[in-house]
Formats: sequence, structure tokens, C-alpha cells
Amino acid sequence: MTLPRACIIGAGSSGIAAAKALHERGLAFDCFEKSDRVGGNWVFGNKNGMSAAYRDLFINTSRQRMSYSDFPMPESYPDFPHHTHIAAYFDDYVDHFGLREKITFNTGVEHAARRADGAWEVTLDDGQRREYDALLVANGHHWKPRWPEPPFPGADTFAGQQLHAHSYVDNSIFEGRRAVILGMGNSAMDIAVESSYVAERTYLAGRSGVWILPKYVFGKPVDQMRNDPRVPFAVRQRLIQAVIRSYAGPPERYGLPKPQHRFGQAHPTISGRILDRIQHGTITPKPNIESLQEASVRFVDGSAVEADVVVYCTGYQIAFPFFDEDFISAPDNHIELFRRVFHPQIANVFFIGLLQPLGAIMPIAEAQGAWVGDYLAGDYRLPDAARVRADIAADQAAMRKRYVASKRHTIQVDFDDYLYALAKERAAGAERARRNGFKPPVECLLSVDTAAS
Ligand SMILES: Cc1cc2nc3c(=O)[nH]c(=O)nc-3n(C[C@H](O)[C@H](O)[C@H](O)COP(=O)(O)OP(=O)(O)OC[C@H]3O[C@@H](n4cnc5c(N)ncnc54)[C@H](O)[C@@H]3O)c2cc1C
Ligand SMILES: NC(=O)c1ccc[n+]([C@@H]2O[C@H](COP(=O)([O-])OP(=O)(O)OC[C@H]3O[C@@H](n4cnc5c(N)ncnc54)[C@H](OP(=O)(O)O)[C@@H]3O)[C@@H](O)[C@H]2O)c1
Repeated sequence: MTLPRACIIGAGSSGIAAAKALHERGLAFDCFEKSDRVGGNWVFGNKNGMSAAYRDLFINTSRQRMSYSDFPMPESYPDFPHHTHIAAYFDDYVDHFGLREKITFNTGVEHAARRADGAWEVTLDDGQRREYDALLVANGHHWKPRWPEPPFPGADTFAGQQLHAHSYVDNSIFEGRRAVILGMGNSAMDIAVESSYVAERTYLAGRSGVWILPKYVFGKPVDQMRNDPRVPFAVRQRLIQAVIRSYAGPPERYGLPKPQHRFGQAHPTISGRILDRIQHGTITPKPNIESLQEASVRFVDGSAVEADVVVYCTGYQIAFPFFDEDFISAPDNHIELFRRVFHPQIANVFFIGLLQPLGAIMPIAEAQGAWVGDYLAGDYRLPDAARVRADIAADQAAMRKRYVASKRHTIQVDFDDYLYALAKERAAGAERARRNGFKPPVECLLSVDTAAS
């Protein structure tokens, strides 16, 4: 039997999970990684220039949630390890499963184009060209900064330093300075806390209120609270809302903007320290920035403060620099995919880890990789095109209904619900494949004999 040959772009935590899945199914593949190591975002100072990790970054999803299903993080790790632990874990993963030699390091994919016959032509950054039957995209979605658009009035006249959270390294930039941190997401809260220990003043500015989750509730990491996908979301929402209220009360009690939504309708911010630092008087909440002057920042409530540094923690853009823009792109972070993986018009391109879970990405990327592996091996068959389109439309409608409209909320999923639904879909597709005689769905234009690969 012949099986398709695949290319995987990226060996971050998503790419290596996909590589393992293909490897285990005996599918031939190349995995190209720009950097000299695996781990992507989790490699502080990564030579690919794409990591957003700062010196004191700790995960905000617990290690139990973040671990791949068959490779738990060591018991010796704390519940919320440092980025060095996480990067080491991904290194151990590829070595444990014998994947390292399957990855071509220091090699970026410059361009990927689909030929008229459906095969992929991949051009590498050393000029080499390769051909594949299938393409798995695992290039990450937290490396291209989203700056305020348009910039705040006066931003070009501000004499101090302005940077995006992506290039934040450590709090030495705040020493003895007055810092304005913009945003209400996890980057903003982490960086404001770091600033608060060394800056002369730290202001945390935001336009939308958020519900802030502590790292622990009932003595356990917050993401290990029971969360049964069979229980209606509204019931779970009420429970967690009650937990937050009992722990901290409403955010406006701390001078933070009042959330205009209920818990679960925006990406959550997790911080065990922000409320303490505000209540110690070391961080002053502010509403959104209105404008910048040479040495000060004015806020929309009319107040102004002197400032030396502004950090824009304003999120990220999804980008695929190796595709022609008019072929596959994600304008305003929108990209319509079947269950966040399959392209509705292109049968042989797949996206791994391209989602924003309430929970960790890694076990989801692992399940997605296995799903694509099943598909390429002929063990899973998609529903017909009309059902795929209807499923995507329903998914988009549900996201619009549930989430605050924002470029932040275009690829949201609930961890347990997504995995539960994916397992059901894989089983249904396995049955369709059985009825279809387990024929590989991707034409093997460049196929290899599995016995020989
Ligand atoms: C500050 C910060 C903290 C975070 N904390 C958490 C957390 O606690 N828990 C959690 O689950 N998620 C967290 N995330 C989300 C983060 O995206 C994931 O943890 C994880 O990094 C996703 O892995 P990935 O492989 O999809 O992407 P990445 O880690 O970005 O890896 C992508 C890889 O693809 C490679 N690549 C890209 N383009 C090319 C190309 N053209 N050719 C070859 N190689 C290429 C890159 O070099 C990189 O190695 C955090 C994000 C940020 C910014
Ligand atoms: N410790 C950790 O593990 C950790 C640390 C940092 C980040 N992360 C993860 O990294 C990812 C990115 O997080 P992030 O915090 O960098 O980005 P984010 O979640 O997208 O948050 C962006 C924030 O900036 C605000 N914003 C955007 N544009 C703005 C503008 N023009 N003016 C004013 N405010 C604006 C947004 O407000 P609106 O809601 O109004 O758009 C939001 O509060 C998330 O998955 C996060 O969980 C994890």
C-alpha cells in the first residue's frame, strides 16, 4: 500500500506532536524547523527570533494539563514550571520518541505552493525545492506582534521607550522608571507584576475588563477543576463565576475595568499576583490610553501621568508568510477550518495548534496530529463537503454568540469540549473510512511505499 508523503512546518510543541503521530503510523515526512532546537515559543532567546518568552516566564496552564497524554512532565516539576523546564520537556519528548533525526533544523520553509495536480512545492530558505502530497502547518500564532492600529495619537512624539510584549526580556528596563503597561491579557498582567518590583511607578491600562483567575482554587491548579463537557456550558460558567467572586470579588473593586461579559466569554487572564500588587499600591490601574505626549501618557478618563516606557501587550496576529496572501491567509485573525484543522477547499493541508484554548495547546495538538495521521493513512474519512461547510458555519456562529467580538476571539476552543468532540468525530470518521474500504483520501502523487520508508 502506498501512503502520502508529508511536510511539517515547524518543530514547536505542535509540530513535534504531529511528527510523532505520523512517525507512529509509518507515514513518511520531513519536518523543517527554522531554529536549531525544538520548542518554539518556549525557547527563551530562540535564535529564530520568534519566541515571546521572557526571562521569568512561567506557564499559566498547569503541567498536568500541558503534558502530552503519553509523556507526563516529571513529578519533580512544580505545578506551573519555568520556561526552561518546559523547553527541556519538549527536548526530552523528541528524544524519547526518536523524533530528533526526523527534524531538519536551521531550515525554514520560505514558500509553499500547491500545484495544479494538488502536490505541494515547498521552497526552503537555502533555495532547495521539495515536493509533498500533504502539508501540516505548525508555525505557531504568538510570534507576530499586533500593535495598536492605528497608533495612539502622539505615539511618534513620545520621547521614552515603546515596545511590544513580544520583545520584552526582563524587568531591568523598568528600573527606576515610570512604566505604562497596556492590555488586560496574560502578558500585560505578568509584565505589570514584574515591573512593579523595580519601577518607580507602574500603571496598568486597559480598555476591556477581564475576569482574573487565580492559579489555585480549592488547593489545586485552577485548570484541574472538574469540567465535564457533558454538563451544559452555562452551568459550568455559573460555577466558575461564583468561585472567582468568592476569591476576589469583582475586578472593579481593585480599580480595574468592569468586565462587560460573563466568565468564559473572553480569553481568561490567570494571575496569582496581580491583585496583591495592586492592593500593595505598586500597580495603579488606568483606563485605555487616549494619547501620548513627549514625556507623558493621557488616558481616556482625562488623567495623565509622566512616563518613560510604554509596553503594548496588545496581542498577536496569525500569519503564514510561506503562503501567497491570496491563497491562504488569516485577515484579522479569521481563518475558517473544519474543527480548526482541515481546510474546507484543500484536501491536503492541515493546521496543528492553531487555536486558543481555555486550557493548554499541547494535548490538543497531539490529538490533532493523530487525527491527521488517521486521515492520511485512510483510517478516517471526512464528512461530505456540505456537512463540513455546515459544521464550520455552526462553529463560527457559536463563537460569535459566545465571545466578545474581538480579534482575540477568532480561534477559541474549550479544552475538554474540543477533545471530547474530536474523539467523537474521529470515531464517526473511522466508521465512514471502514465503509469506504480504508482508501487514503489524499492522492499519492509522490507516494512512497510504506515498506521502503
Ligand atoms: C508569553 C506566552 C506564554 C504562553 N503560555 C502558555 C501556557 O502557559 N500554556 C499554553 O498552553 N500555551 C501558552 N502560550 C501559547 C503558545 O502559543 C503555546 O504554548 C505553544 O508555544 C504553541 O506551540 P506551537 O508549536 O504551535 O508554536 P510555537 O511554539 O510558536 O512554535 C512554532 C515553531 O515553528 C517554527 N517555524 C515557524 N515558521 C517556520 C517556517 N516558515 N519554517 C520552519 N519553521 C518554522 C518556529 O521556529 C517554531 O519553532 C503562551 C504564549 C505566549 C506568547
Ligand atoms: N504566563 C503565561 O503563561 C502567559 C503570559 C503571557 C501570555 N500568555 C498567553 O499568550 C497569548 C497572548 O496573550 P497576550 O496577553 O499577549 O495577548 P491577548 O490575550 O490577545 O490580549 C491583548 C490585550 O490587549 C488589548 N488590546 C488589544 N489592542 C488594543 C488597543 N488598540 N488598545 C487597547 N487595548 C488593546 C486587548 O483588549 P481587548 O480584549 O479589548 O481586545 C487585550 O486586553 C495568550 O494565549 C496568553 O494566554 C501566557
